[in-house]
Amino acid sequence: LQLYASRKTPHCGSLNPNTLEEIAREKCKEHLDAYMYIFGSAGTSNTHHANRKYFDRWRLVPRMLVDATERSLETTIFGVKYPSPLILAPIGVQGIVHPDAELASAAAAAKCNVPFIMSSAATRSIEAIAKASGDGPRWYQLYWPKSNDITLSLLKRAKANGYTALVVTLDTNILGWRPHDLDTAYLPFVHGVGIQNAVADPVFMARFGLEAISDERPPFPYVPAKIDKAIAEGDEGAKRGTLLGKSWLAEANSGEFKTWEDIKFLLDNWEGPVVLKGIQTVADAETALDIGAHGIVVSNHGGRQVDGAVPSLWALEQVCSSPKIRAAQESGKFTIIFDSGLRTGSDGIKAIALGAQAIALGRPYMHGLTIAGEAGVDEVVRSFLADMEVTLGLIGRTNLSGVWYKKDEVLQRSD
Ligand code: FNR
Repeated sequence: LQLYASRKTPHCGSLNPNTLEEIAREKCKEHLDAYMYIFGSAGTSNTHHANRKYFDRWRLVPRMLVDATERSLETTIFGVKYPSPLILAPIGVQGIVHPDAELASAAAAAKCNVPFIMSSAATRSIEAIAKASGDGPRWYQLYWPKSNDITLSLLKRAKANGYTALVVTLDTNILGWRPHDLDTAYLPFVHGVGIQNAVADPVFMARFGLEAISDERPPFPYVPAKIDKAIAEGDEGAKRGTLLGKSWLAEANSGEFKTWEDIKFLLDNWEGPVVLKGIQTVADAETALDIGAHGIVVSNHGGRQVDGAVPSLWALEQVCSSPKIRAAQESGKFTIIFDSGLRTGSDGIKAIALGAQAIALGRPYMHGLTIAGEAGVDEVVRSFLADMEVTLGLIGRTNLSGVWYKKDEVLQRSD
């Protein structure tokens, strides 16, 4: 209502998720490969499109003359009350689209009391992001190093800096086949510099005999040619950053593959919830529960890993059809978070109606960051929440317990 009353267009130029994407692209026109890295998916983007299309297969059923003047999206996640079920998904290399990078996203999330999941491939350190997040809720996403001593060092730093939940991403031990990036030969991890601060862990540095990096800021815009030029001109920071990134990749690709049994190591060494991200089947969801994980993120990485994979919302429906999973959710033992394809408030309501307890937003907040930094992320988050709350009222519900697992009342399948 404030937006209507102010008669001002939004900070980002639009609240329409598709238009937002176009504006972000225009903003990146000098370094379009960075935009393509965010926008892109695996293969022909088949799964990314399927993620979106599957939301259309479920339709909301509005009820009339229900007093929904007072509405709340309040949700409890891992025993903590939040004003909404929204979380910001872990997204790496945010420095490729805005110089304030993860610091801006973390600060915006904190203002809305939305958990910010810091990616292992962030362009800022665990400590710097914690500082930007202040009193805000924050979680740490782990791309699991092969060496346990490096893992332990990362976990220790995350814990010491107030990250409460550990999100372990399982679907990216091999990077997906992404033609958008292959066409432009653009891969931030390979160029290395972008992730220098996140991977500058003391144990890792000592292992590879690497020197510390003094500059907190990677070059912006993050253009490989610019980095190559800096290296050719003898820029020591750029050289060290690239070496660091490459050593990190080498470490990640060394050693033994980790299996379900190894999750125990993380459970034993993390005081707090451990959440497995990238689950798409009932079998894996039940195994996650059996081994003692506290939750899962039903996700296909926004369609960036397996081209042709099942839509994430379909996977959610399957997982939530398991009586064992539902009983564990109801007893408070297990939490299901959903991501991949969420763009509007009604998408969020549909995911909750199918059984998700929380939802994570990906690319849309990156578009906000690209266009307007912290203010852009703030606007994307607030408008998503406003849309969700308005939609809740319009379907005749006042809170999320009126929606959770109420698909027979709230949704209609339309094939
Ligand atoms: C991601 N995602 C991701 N996931 C993760 O666990 N660690 C990471 O570092 C990243 N990095 C990353 C970069 C970019 C540019 C994107 C778009 C995505 C996946 C992310 O957490 C989430 O699963 C998807 O973004 C959700 O899909 P939507 O909302 O983008 O459709």
